[in-house]
Amino acid sequence: MTAIRIDGVARAFGAVAAVRGVTLDIRDGEFFTLLGPSGCGKTTLLRMVAGFCDLDSGTIHFGERRIDTVPPHKRNAGMVFQNYAIFPNLTVNGNVAYGLKARGIVPDQIDDRAAKALKLVHLDGYGARWPHQLSGGQLQRVALARCLVIEPEVILLDEPLSNLDAKLRVEMRGEIRQLQKRLGITALYVTHDQEEAMAISDRIAVMNAGSVEQIGQPVDIYQRPATPFVARFMGTTNLLSGSVIRHEGDRAVVRAGGHDFLVGAPGIAEAEPGKAIGFSLRPEALTITAPGAKPPPGWASLEARVVRIEFLGALTRIELALDSGLVLHAAAVDMPRALAEGPVALSYDPARVTAFPGPCD
Ligand SMILES: Nc1ncnc2c1ncn2[C@@H]1O[C@H](COP(=O)(O)OP(=O)(O)OP(=O)(O)O)[C@@H](O)[C@H]1O
Ligand SMILES: [Mg+2]
Repeated sequence: MTAIRIDGVARAFGAVAAVRGVTLDIRDGEFFTLLGPSGCGKTTLLRMVAGFCDLDSGTIHFGERRIDTVPPHKRNAGMVFQNYAIFPNLTVNGNVAYGLKARGIVPDQIDDRAAKALKLVHLDGYGARWPHQLSGGQLQRVALARCLVIEPEVILLDEPLSNLDAKLRVEMRGEIRQLQKRLGITALYVTHDQEEAMAISDRIAVMNAGSVEQIGQPVDIYQRPATPFVARFMGTTNLLSGSVIRHEGDRAVVRAGGHDFLVGAPGIAEAEPGKAIGFSLRPEALTITAPGAKPPPGWASLEARVVRIEFLGALTRIELALDSGLVLHAAAVDMPRALAEGPVALSYDPARVTAFPGPCD
């Protein structure tokens, strides 16, 4: 039973503030992901939880136990690294058994536990092989078995799939998630891939320049980003800035890029006329119809021209220009049959807009 509490944790390297006062409460059995661009401090934070990096300030607890003052091998955390860190001069069995030997487990238990760990990751019978005889996906499984064999309270995974090709990455992320659920183990996972994070996490912390910008379930982070940074990082979006013109009930008319946008985001009723705000409108929230077609009741509509169509199979991306020249991005699940470059009507449900307290930069 292990919740992880990270409280006011900070670390600088010289002038670089890698992690700036991060506080996170990770629940027992939760799959929690640190997501953010390169250099935002994900690995540094994970290494502090593992015990490979000292804290400048703050504390870390596993359950009731304070662990940031405890050496790594006494934290009972298993770690999987980006490059697997498999010892090339040891067999698969030797690699998996390594952590048990280091912990002084008696030899006749070692083989048994190593075999069980290999079975968990579907590598039974591979114990005698050498690392160079394995594929990338198999090496990744060995790294996972080596982490699980010590029966850790928590598993820490730093971009464990980044060396794999796209198809295997999708397959392995599902396997990691299944295994974590089955073992009921708390997982702290690091990735810069927003799709991967959304696919496997109970909750995500989006990091930017050493700080956490938002914590939430994948669907909330995607649909209700707290900041323009999160909106942009979690996939394609239309980010606009403008000023509030007037209110229509609990919605606001916002002039942005020379056009009036109806914004129905939570809290928008409180934004005073004249206030500069930013807002995000996801491409899939935009509906394209024939010019002059009436939108559903309560929806906003704009006149636009389709200027580019990108057919991607399951998804079609459509670039539209408004008469001011403002460009919007739309996405449709099915390629609309009649879709061609030229004039269209564009409509959206104003409730699907997310607003920010200030303009987007
Ligand atoms: N040992 C170190 N010495 C000096 N600077 C470091 C050290 N480790 C990390 N940094 C710096 O701290 C910042 C955060 O690095 P970190 O490795 O935590 O980022 P990250 O989010 O894991 O990035 P990536 O996605 O590229 O792995 C970066 O600016 C990095 O250059
Ligand atoms: Mg990293």
